Amino acid sequence: MNLYSVEEKDYSGKRVFMRVDFNVPIKEGKVVDDTRIKASLPTIKYLLEKGASLILASHLGRPKGKVVPEMSLKVVAERLQELLGKEVKFVPDCIGDEVKKAVENLQKGEVLLLENLRFHKEEEEGDENFAKELASYGDAYVNDAFGTCHRKHASVYTIAKFCEDVAAGFLIKKEVEVLTKLLTDPEKPFLLILGGAKVIDKIGIIKNLLDKVDTIITGGVMAYTFIRAKNWEIGDSKIEEEAIPLAKEIIREINKRHLEFHTPLDHIITNKVSEDAHYFPTERGTIPLGWIGVDIGPQAIEEYVDCINRAKTIFWNGPMGIYEIKPFAKGTLEIAKAIANTDAFSVVGGGDSVAAVNEAGVADKISHICTGGGASLEFLSKGTLPGIEILQKK
Ligand code: 3PG
Repeated sequence: MNLYSVEEKDYSGKRVFMRVDFNVPIKEGKVVDDTRIKASLPTIKYLLEKGASLILASHLGRPKGKVVPEMSLKVVAERLQELLGKEVKFVPDCIGDEVKKAVENLQKGEVLLLENLRFHKEEEEGDENFAKELASYGDAYVNDAFGTCHRKHASVYTIAKFCEDVAAGFLIKKEVEVLTKLLTDPEKPFLLILGGAKVIDKIGIIKNLLDKVDTIITGGVMAYTFIRAKNWEIGDSKIEEEAIPLAKEIIREINKRHLEFHTPLDHIITNKVSEDAHYFPTERGTIPLGWIGVDIGPQAIEEYVDCINRAKTIFWNGPMGIYEIKPFAKGTLEIAKAIANTDAFSVVGGGDSVAAVNEAGVADKISHICTGGGASLEFLSKGTLPGIEILQKK
């Protein structure tokens, strides 16, 4: 894939509008996993070294066009400042007069982070006027927000209409290189591990990957949705109802192709999702009425570790349960450790799975930590993404 690259451009004295993906987990006003911020540092530092000033823009969460104070990027600006070792200015909006003034006052070598783009509904709508205003802040556009490149949003896609000078940052280039290798030359067996929520976003993509993978294992809301699609009892566990028709279709396809497909053999269940809850494993892969599945059980862990040990290529997206609550984290952490212990070429993608790998202390044993969850899945199914297409040389 031939992308415009920052290395082939001259940024001296230029203002660069840079789209980053700072959609990081935040707890009690603190960034709890800064992997995505760190991943953008090579491009940020490179552009500053080359004499640019930077206007950074990102989304955080899904505020749906409203100002949600808990989703402010201010706390991210503070973390970035610590990591960068230099001042990061912050404005409490991403468009408007205050932003314009801050941009005009920005000096060579300075960094400004704008407030959450999704506080304006126009971002997700891909609105042209909104994109035009964002584009007007920079002399050049750089995208390093790999995790958002599957969205046709204003700052990721529409903006290209208003920028002559576009380029991919180092993070996007690396992600594209690794995922292209998975697509074109994966050593078999290829194991896909899918967990977490956002099922409706991910499930169609599994369908497209069926020709490429040999084994699929599932956990979390993804697994509960598949179990319900099999008409098995799932108690009060969280599922995504609208994804069930497609889940049924996928199960039929999997059976037709004789692929190895696993939902958990057993589960950890509770009647209260909290640190002090009572919890215990089920005997089978169903969950009784009144109970909530929160993790995979010990039999499922054993079976999944066996699948991992047999694989030569592994792609993992999404936790096996509510791993952010300590008693329900075991399944996810065991998967992380098992992947780290194999010689397989392993790629882990998505905020939560990456956080889990970090928590398990095994990030350095994973072949590639991908910063995009939905983006990496969509790239694997389509070979490109809207936000990547606009960076491609004609
Ligand atoms: C992600 O976390 O996958 C990206 O930041 C995109 O977020 P979204 O799924 O809310 O668009």
